[in-house]
Amino acid sequence: MTQNYRITLLPGDGIGPEIMAVAVEVLKLVGKKFDIQFDFQSALIGGAAIDATGEPLPAATLDTCRNSDSVLLAAIGGYKWDTLPSHLRPEAGLLGLRAGLGLFANLRPAKILPQLVDSSTLKKEVVEGVDIMVVRELTGGIYFGKPRGVFQTETGERRGVNTMVYTESEIDRIGRVAFETARKRSGRLCSVDKSNVLEVSQLWRDRITQLATEYPDVELSHLYVDNAAMQLLRAPKQFDTIVTGNLFGDILSDAAAMLTGSIGMLPSASLGVANPGVYEPVHGSAPDIAGQDKANPLAQVLSAAMMLRYSLNQPAAADYIEQGVLQVLQSNLRTGDIMSSGMTLLGCQAMGEALIKCLET
Ligand code: IPM
Ligand code: MG
Repeated sequence: MTQNYRITLLPGDGIGPEIMAVAVEVLKLVGKKFDIQFDFQSALIGGAAIDATGEPLPAATLDTCRNSDSVLLAAIGGYKWDTLPSHLRPEAGLLGLRAGLGLFANLRPAKILPQLVDSSTLKKEVVEGVDIMVVRELTGGIYFGKPRGVFQTETGERRGVNTMVYTESEIDRIGRVAFETARKRSGRLCSVDKSNVLEVSQLWRDRITQLATEYPDVELSHLYVDNAAMQLLRAPKQFDTIVTGNLFGDILSDAAAMLTGSIGMLPSASLGVANPGVYEPVHGSAPDIAGQDKANPLAQVLSAAMMLRYSLNQPAAADYIEQGVLQVLQSNLRTGDIMSSGMTLLGCQAMGEALIKCLET
């Protein structure tokens, strides 16, 4: 029986529309093979939404997302909107989407593909075999804490304020996702905080340690965030699953991504309780190469695969896409970000076509 899914597409800004076009073609093809019918609906977010409506997350977009089975997002942001006040910047659209859909759990895998070991800036023996999952809390912490703002002091200077806050229930719910994730992987979980300085981190460590008693099969360790950053570069293979707050997760997931050679290869999932999940590449909108057909569409394609796996319960279709990506790399085809000697350089569209050809056969 044909499965029907309503998918909201949020192409956003910069390279977003180019990479989204590739992912949609891939989904259509895989849909035919696996008897899945996708009903795609595009909506505005980020700079594109600002230009069209004056706001980065129009209410209609949030509604469309809520009424779909899953959301595929490309990227937001660009130089053009960088000088707007923060609540009108493209980033506010993304943060509003996360908050509006209650997407508190952000899963960011960083797995090195054997074909790309040489693209990493680190030594082969350091990165070969790296397979890390960063579980980042996404709707709390300093990103959303109050008070926030830039205020005038009595002496007339300005004072900028943000607040890092976590409640026990916020820590517990992301903690549970992390323990469950670690359980399905190698059973090792490293919680990252700054509890040598921050009270909010002391509470974090306390709760995560408590939770561990419910998951005796998971081996829990703790690291301070500065040390975690160092260890990620020094000996990344010691990590399996990492759980951390919003800001530390933002930073560490970029670092983990780069171990794999290119951030252009990595997908992510943002999940809540009842609302549809949002799937997006870890990389941004790359305004410097936007519109030039230079982008790597594979993180977007792998995000679509992640969507099939985590939200739509179509693991076979997800596997099929992931195998196709490996095959295209195996044929020595590369976009600029993962290019190395002896490989064939392709643009975004041509990479999409090559992938489609692999998936067709
Ligand atoms: C990310 C991005 C976003 C974040 C920005 C664009 C708001 O860096 O998804 O990691 O900081 O969360
Ligand atoms: Mg980031």
